[in-house]
Amino acid sequence: MKQVNDEKWWKKAVIYQIYPRSFQDSNGDGIGDLNGIICRLDYLENLGIDAIWLSPVCKSPQDDNGYDISDYQDIDPMFGSIEDMERLIQEAKKHHIRIIMDLVLNHSSDEHRWFQEARKSRENPYHDYYIWRDGEEGCPPNEMRACFGGSAWEWVPEIKQYYFHQFSVKQPDLNWENPKVRREIYNMIDWWIKKGAGGFRLDVIDQIAKEPDKGITANGPRLHEFIREMSREVFRGKDLITVGEAWGATPELAKLYSNPDDSEFSMVFQFEHIVLDQEEGKEKWDLAPLPFLKLKEILNRWQMELSGRGWNSLFWNNHDLPRIVSRWGNDGEYRVESAKMLAILLHGMQGTPYIYQGEELGMTNALYAIEDYRDIETRNMYRERLEKGYDAADIIASIHAKGRDNARTPMQWNASENAGFTQGIPWLRVNPNYKEINAASQLHDENSVFACYKKLIRLRKTWDVFVDGTFRMLLEDDENFFAYQRENAFRKLLVICNFFGCTLEYPLEADWENMELLIGNYDSIERPEIFRPYEARMYISHMEA
Ligand code: GLC
Ligand code: CA
Repeated sequence: MKQVNDEKWWKKAVIYQIYPRSFQDSNGDGIGDLNGIICRLDYLENLGIDAIWLSPVCKSPQDDNGYDISDYQDIDPMFGSIEDMERLIQEAKKHHIRIIMDLVLNHSSDEHRWFQEARKSRENPYHDYYIWRDGEEGCPPNEMRACFGGSAWEWVPEIKQYYFHQFSVKQPDLNWENPKVRREIYNMIDWWIKKGAGGFRLDVIDQIAKEPDKGITANGPRLHEFIREMSREVFRGKDLITVGEAWGATPELAKLYSNPDDSEFSMVFQFEHIVLDQEEGKEKWDLAPLPFLKLKEILNRWQMELSGRGWNSLFWNNHDLPRIVSRWGNDGEYRVESAKMLAILLHGMQGTPYIYQGEELGMTNALYAIEDYRDIETRNMYRERLEKGYDAADIIASIHAKGRDNARTPMQWNASENAGFTQGIPWLRVNPNYKEINAASQLHDENSVFACYKKLIRLRKTWDVFVDGTFRMLLEDDENFFAYQRENAFRKLLVICNFFGCTLEYPLEADWENMELLIGNYDSIERPEIFRPYEARMYISHMEA
């Protein structure tokens, strides 16, 4: 049976996320920029990716590294100009790569013209672009807290009102209830489509339909109404990929978001699997070991539920998350093996894989002292927890494990000073392990993590079973193996991963002789049923005609 959008290019695609300030600096100011990305398009084409999700490059005071936009139709001078952006889109196209823009629509910067106007008076035509409540200084409308610490309400003495912000005080929430706001946003998106954007990632999109009086932030009652309107007005019928970031998505909701009838988005980023290693009901900083069976159960559920009724995003990493090899792999003795195992595990599943810059090299977390971190979330949390009486060493341990700067250290291109990222002083320290872990040393090594990612991307494009094969989890209750099958009318994939550091025997029957090994992470195999530390293999078998 054909699905409605079976032909969508993005079902076969692999997306690469660039965090521009940390990717490649071209002018020596220590900050990555658009011209830097253009210089690295050959590298990306070689890897084989289809699209770049570009974290925000629009004009911004950089309070939250660009997730606080002051002009949606201009590029921040730190990154380049509109002309550079147009050139990036054109040049990327020559390398068969599309550019996915990051749309931050839940909030703007407080330095956006709209907010500057809005705060002037209650009668200002832009006032209602944001969310205001009356009150008295020192008595915010309610107890809601902002994600980056402090109250979610900020007092503006000139007009004696509070405005609402889910993130920093410099990120006032936009009022989606106001149709004028929505219209401005749609026009702006349309403008980027005309400039050649190949798609959009929609930042914290599940938080746009907030109802602060009821304490509602995510999944507000009008959320899907707004998304459908946006889709109808700007996305529908165009050759775009759209991916919503939705921390609050369940498989049920994801079927709405990624409905094959194109009424909303192509897919969503969901986080159910990625928040497992924290104490239940607490914050990400409250560390807990990964419950492995739970990880399997969740990924299995998402595979099963969305099959034919939606579409998954497959990812371990992004700019907000720690490095997966340090997190759920082993960044010491088995760094290479475990990085490849995690890649093989993820890339065999149904969905669109995302690679976050440096993941394809097996880049690791950075273990810095507090002064070396730049992230607003990390710095605020450190201060708040110290005030609350937490032990400084414990806070640092949490930051080493979960801090967002782990993912934001500069890309490690080669073994020269500052890893070839900049001729100047990098805005965030380079991870000291760059002499060992860098792109130059991996590009021509067929056993490198890079080679493994490159091959996985090629395999996805070779065999349809990656895209349309049904998913079946094997060994659901096994404490060590992550194993599954994919199957369509012509072929079967078998993916077997030893998720941990001991040697194990695979407990199921397998027709080792008659399967073809597509990819693995050890050189030679003596006894196929034996899986060494972090060993992963992907086999294919072809049905008889
Ligand atoms: C998203 C972004 C994150 C940002 C936040 C506020 O979660 O990924 O980096 O801080 O939204 O825009
Ligand atoms: Ca620069």
